Amino acid sequence: MAADVAPTDPLALRAAARSAPKSFGRLSQLVGASVSLVWSAARLLFLALVALQLLAAVALAAQVLAVRELLDAVLTADSQGDTGIVLTPIVMLAALTAVAAVTTALQGQLQRLLGECVTRTMWSKVLSVATGVGLRFFESPEFFNRLNRVQTSALVRPYQVTQGLLTMAGALAASLGLGLVLLRVAPVLLPLVVIGGIPMLITSRRESRLEFDFAVEQTPTVRLRSYLAMLQTGRPEAKEVRAFGLGRWLGNRFDGLYATYLHDLKRHVRRRSILSLVGQVGSAVVLGGTLIVLAGLIARGRIDVATAGAAVVAIRLLATQVQTLFRGVQTIFESGLFLDDLDEFLAYGRPAGEEDSGAEAPESFDALRAEGLTFRYPGSETPALRGVDIDLRAGEVVALVGENGSGKTTLAKLLAGLYEPEAGRILWDDRDAAAFRPSSLRSRISVVFQDFVRYALPATENIAVGRVDEPADPLRVRMAAAAAGADATLDSLPHGYDTVLSRMFADGTDLSGGQWQRVALARSFYRDAPLVILDEPSAALDPRAEHELFSTLREALHGRTALFISHRFSTVRGADRIYVLHEGEVVEQGSHDDLIAQDGRYAELYRLQSDAYVAKEMQRR
Ligand SMILES: Nc1ncnc2c1ncn2[C@@H]1O[C@H](COP(=O)(O)OP(=O)(O)OP(=O)(O)O)[C@@H](O)[C@H]1O
Ligand SMILES: [Mg+2]
Repeated sequence: MAADVAPTDPLALRAAARSAPKSFGRLSQLVGASVSLVWSAARLLFLALVALQLLAAVALAAQVLAVRELLDAVLTADSQGDTGIVLTPIVMLAALTAVAAVTTALQGQLQRLLGECVTRTMWSKVLSVATGVGLRFFESPEFFNRLNRVQTSALVRPYQVTQGLLTMAGALAASLGLGLVLLRVAPVLLPLVVIGGIPMLITSRRESRLEFDFAVEQTPTVRLRSYLAMLQTGRPEAKEVRAFGLGRWLGNRFDGLYATYLHDLKRHVRRRSILSLVGQVGSAVVLGGTLIVLAGLIARGRIDVATAGAAVVAIRLLATQVQTLFRGVQTIFESGLFLDDLDEFLAYGRPAGEEDSGAEAPESFDALRAEGLTFRYPGSETPALRGVDIDLRAGEVVALVGENGSGKTTLAKLLAGLYEPEAGRILWDDRDAAAFRPSSLRSRISVVFQDFVRYALPATENIAVGRVDEPADPLRVRMAAAAAGADATLDSLPHGYDTVLSRMFADGTDLSGGQWQRVALARSFYRDAPLVILDEPSAALDPRAEHELFSTLREALHGRTALFISHRFSTVRGADRIYVLHEGEVVEQGSHDDLIAQDGRYAELYRLQSDAYVAKEMQRR
């Protein structure tokens, strides 16, 4: 999987950034990507903004003509003593200025709206890929890095892209309009003005390259910095940060990184400012030359004063527009990395979309069989599972035991259809589960993971997320909670089942570890799937609660089949069959009595635990 992922290692990225052409071809590719992003977000708004840019450009060019009319009228009125003729150009100029002001104001607001639309579209695309891709992607650092970068950029980049695009379009149109006007009023000056743009062109290209390199160079430290900030602000981390007194230590590291960043930033800003100064001075020199030529033309009577005045205005405006154009180009270049990242991130979703095809999984089964399951985590040398065979018959309660790292959770993930095996298959009554549509297979399985999610949502929803394709049914929620032994706890909350189970939100509360575990169990019962997989469902339960859970488990399951993982042999005893995993292999299987009689690994582990209890009993006596 990792092979088809482009390099995201900072060094590789920097090299890629250096060699990435800042050519016209690259610019047009980026403009294409930006337009398609903005277009897919809000085409009408985008078109309206482009139209406004054109209107502003026309108004700008017309202003130059109006200035000439006005100067002409003033001079004529002066010689003829008729002041009435200046009125029309004054009104025209005022109207054009008003149009320009109104369009600018409107553009600002509409751009803000468009930026939000682009952000929203981008987020929904990114999130749908993030939740749609297979779990194996989350084992890939490349995927995660890219996801992280897209998320970090998501706040500002969409605005930058839209702004860059519109700025470019507007400045291009305005430059063309002003160029045409200048061509009409004083054609000799046009080449000079165009030459005036060249210093800016050169330095702004160099500037954008600097910016790009800087961004790439800083990516790793910026990410480390935000990770350190997250450690200091995260709720789950808050306990440990205090208990170990990490606040100052983390703060110092954060500060140190920031200091280095600021130092680099100063150097970068200095370089950029010098470059930009050189460009501006160069342009100013050429502009000065243009004005000297203009003065010469007036002196020789080749051009009248009104036209010369209009030309000065046109040149000033044009110089500004050319600068704006380059700024737009630069913005687009600067967003290039983000656009590439976004594109490549979204590409992860394309094969995932096709993945969800296949036959509908059956509603139930008589026998579920795993045959020779072998699995290796991406990028890992040793297999986590090696030729595992297990059988589950309808209605059975089967236990999976084994030491830490023996592969229990991995087997649960494979059975739940979250990973595909490298070898072997899972049969649902002789039908290979690989042929089922993954989402349909998953809907037939209910899993409670060791590290289940504690949703910061009301208790009802925490249980009803077990089946989100139907509206939550309060009665069934209560039944599931009762089966999991969570009923009394939830009822006693300040707002009962409507209480938000997190203190992150107003009026919320938190539960103890064991109470949470019951809520997670209730969620799995609510799902109503023929196969229930429970990964250490009682690890956080007190002995009485655990005893109650297992003595009522069969009743709570309502004939569903359950596979549960546990380290507590007292709960495992009652299972119909027990599989013992060791280093990814099933080494023993059978009922508790069978396994004790075999006197193997299970018997040894069992004795270790029961001896510990007996020893405590003896001590007490
Ligand atoms: N996401 C992962 N990427 C790479 N290796 C992993 C990953 N998750 C688990 N492993 C490895 O796979 C092996 C089996 O892990 P698994 O989580 O299945 O063990 P387990 O039996 O559930 O252990 P425990 O009792 O601690 O929960 C271990 O060697 C572990 O290091
Ligand atoms: Mg585990």
